[in-house]
Amino acid sequence: MYQLNYHSISQPELSHKELDNILETAIKVNSAKDITGCLIYHNNHFVQILEGNKNDVLEVFEKIQADDRHHTVTVLWENSIDKRYFPKWNMAYHQPNHDNIIQFVNNLLLLSELSDRSTSSLLSFWATVRKILNDDKITNYEVV
Ligand SMILES: Cc1cc2nc3c(=O)[nH]c(=O)nc-3n(C[C@H](O)[C@H](O)[C@H](O)COP(=O)(O)O)c2cc1C
Repeated sequence: MYQLNYHSISQPELSHKELDNILETAIKVNSAKDITGCLIYHNNHFVQILEGNKNDVLEVFEKIQADDRHHTVTVLWENSIDKRYFPKWNMAYHQPNHDNIIQFVNNLLLLSELSDRSTSSLLSFWATVRKILNDDKITNYEVV
């Protein structure tokens, strides 16, 4: 079992329709290849975890890297893992918005505390997600 997570920056004018298309393809392809994971989109940033058979994960990631709907694709962590962290999700997706961002950050903090602290992949994933959300929260939202 292999896990890879990365961060990237979306094209500035990515429409809802394009996001829907990405998610639709992700769920279709990932289900067929038994790849699971999680995709978060916020403020032109993507953070994604992919997990599954190593060859399949690397094959899908190669396509993702070449996708011109985003750029500056940076691997945060990749390695073999013993078990999946998102076994039920072929690609869980979340796009926090103005109304639910504070709730979302709080949920993430809780979730990251519940996660296995020794798991560096998950820690780097949640740390990046938190950073993106917090940067934005500080810039655009009242911190409560
Ligand atoms: C941020 C982002 C995440 C993506 N995640 C996946 C994914 O998890 N699985 C997948 O098959 N395609 C994903 N895609 C789409 C792929 O880049 C690609 O369009 C898809 O694999 C179809 O490729 P093909 O038409 O060459 O077969 C993602 C694209 C972007 C921009």
